Amino acid sequence: MNLDAAVARYLPQGKMAEGFARGKMKGDPAYAAVLGLLRPGMRVLDVGCGEGYLLALAFETLEGTTLHGFDHDARRLASAEAALAGTGATLWSGDARTTELPEVDAVCALDVLHYQPPEEQDAILARLVGALAPGGLLLVRDGRSDGGFKSTVVTWSERFAVALGRHKGDGVFFRPQDAMRGAMEALGLEVVADACNDQTPFANVLFVGRRP
Ligand SMILES: C[S@@+](CC[C@H](N)C(=O)[O-])C[C@H]1O[C@@H](n2cnc3c(N)ncnc32)[C@H](O)[C@@H]1O
Repeated sequence: MNLDAAVARYLPQGKMAEGFARGKMKGDPAYAAVLGLLRPGMRVLDVGCGEGYLLALAFETLEGTTLHGFDHDARRLASAEAALAGTGATLWSGDARTTELPEVDAVCALDVLHYQPPEEQDAILARLVGALAPGGLLLVRDGRSDGGFKSTVVTWSERFAVALGRHKGDGVFFRPQDAMRGAMEALGLEVVADACNDQTPFANVLFVGRRP
């Protein structure tokens, strides 16, 4: 993955933004895992794109991708818009529960669903599957609630982040791994779930769902 080129896109926002982008893109195994599943030329939608790290990496790594992303946090979205200027990415302010979605080959939702209660997560998942072209991928990375001590760490770190206003959300609603997998399978996807936390202290899982 073309880390340096993606990180350089954040330098105009200041040294701190660039440093944070590098730390996050390098330290979080989700980005490399997801990029490894995407292919050049794909239409990709990043749900809750935040500062746009995944989209910046996809633009710099995979040729000819059509990039879409949205977030309901104006501050994060502004950072994504600045970093992705000139890439042709379509970015907008939207809520995963209501925003209109384009048809794409891959939908990514990294650390997004757990800010809404389980029934809303299910409704969002159904909307995301509805945006997939046949054979498309739904890539969900999220924490699991049944991963022992690492689940406790990720739950409390997210509760603090929401309480401090660092993340906008209704609360923190991690689910057991099989509940998330079951919710995706109930929508007709073939699902593979694997740990996605490497050296981090968090109980994170990457759920790879393929629409037949
Ligand atoms: C922990 S950040 C992850 C950002 C990005 N996905 C990444 O991995 O770099 C979670 C993001 O999801 C966004 N988010 C949470 N719930 C959302 C919703 N219902 N609609 C749109 N964005 C949402 C937050 O605003 C935040 O930017």
